Parts: sequence; structure tokens; C-alpha cells
Amino acid sequence: MAAYELKSARYLAAEVLEKCLRPGDTAVDATMGNGHDTLALCRLVGPQGTVYAFDIQAAAVENTRKRLEEAGVSRQAHLFCLGHEHMAERVDEPVDAAVFNLGWLPGGDHSVTTHWETTKAAIGAALSLLKKSGVLVICAYPGHAEGDRERLALTEFLSGLRPQNFNVLHQRFLNAGPGAPECFVVQKQ
Ligand SMILES: C[S@@+](CC[C@H](N)C(=O)[O-])C[C@H]1O[C@@H](n2cnc3c(N)ncnc32)[C@H](O)[C@@H]1O
Repeated sequence: MAAYELKSARYLAAEVLEKCLRPGDTAVDATMGNGHDTLALCRLVGPQGTVYAFDIQAAAVENTRKRLEEAGVSRQAHLFCLGHEHMAERVDEPVDAAVFNLGWLPGGDHSVTTHWETTKAAIGAALSLLKKSGVLVICAYPGHAEGDRERLALTEFLSGLRPQNFNVLHQRFLNAGPGAPECFVVQKQ
């Protein structure tokens, strides 16, 4: 068996964040959900770092709070029950990384999903907040109507970013079927 295996969008997202973040850094989780990404970010930036996390669902914030407390990493986290489109009102320092895991809360109400209009506003805010060489990582889930619309609009929006300002990578398994997750990585120049 070969030593290297192609892996999913979520795996690439985690790998990029692991490579980019250092203890003491600042990161944003724009879609807290059940807190898996927030926890990973808190571990990467350590007790001297800062993580800002957003979700519109109180249950997501509560699940995340519990997860962080159990792991002993809640000190570095600021959790907001607030739409990520308000990110710039709460994050008042440049950030090293931001992560978006689009769609709905696993195990939750599928009608509460991210929507392109607010996702676009939040991505714009995150791009402005990024430090030089900072990264924005986005996992998108086509395969349902809003996810499809969001993925298409996102692809068009990111394709239009000026290469003098940002490098944009898009990872997609071409033969995996229409619902397969896709990963976008943007790095500020
Ligand atoms: C796929 S889940 C995130 C999973 C999460 N990253 C984890 O590790 O468990 C997407 C989340 O986005 C949230 N969401 C939807 N619209 C939002 C908005 N405008 N601002 C912030 N979060 C939003 C949903 O409530 C849902 O919890």
C-alpha cells in the first residue's frame, strides 16, 4: 500500500490549520456547530492564543462550551451566539486563520443552514481580518439545494479575488458524485 492517501475536504481543512497555526495565534471559527473545529483551534493556539467562534443556534454554543470545558481549553475561547456576518463587530484584532464549515448542524434542524448572502458577508469580513499569510479554510457541502447554490456562488466569488492579494485553492474529488464535500483554502498575500 502506498504511504500517501487522498483524503476528504475535512481532512485537508484540518491539515492546513495544523500547519498554519502556532501557540499564541488568533483564529476564528465562523460556524461553531458541535464545536469540533473550535476545539481543534483552541488546542492549536494554546492558552496564550485566542479563538473567536460564532453560531446562530444556542444549542451549538452550549454543545461547544461543554466540549471545550471537558477538554480544559475554554480559557482561550470567546463564543458568540451570533451570525458570523457580524464577525467584524466582535473580532477587533488581525487573525491568523478562519474556518467555515458550511451547512447545517449535524444531528440538528436541517432547515437551519448557512445561506450565501450571510456567508458572503462573513467571508468578506474574514478576508479583511486575515494577517499577511493568514489562511481562510472553507468546507462546502453541495447535494442539497442551498448547499449547491452556496457552493456555486462561493466558487464564483473566490475565483474573482485578485491574485496579487490572495491565493485560492479548490479541492474537489471529480468522480465522487454531486454531494461530496469540497474544500477551499485562501491565503492572503
Ligand atoms: C456544518 S455545521 C458546523 C460544524 C462545526 N464546525 C463542528 O465542528 O461541529 C454549520 C453550522 O453553521 C451554523 N450557522 C448557520 N448560519 C450561520 C450564521 N449566519 N452564522 C454563524 N453560524 C451559522 C449552523 O447553526 C450550524 O451549526
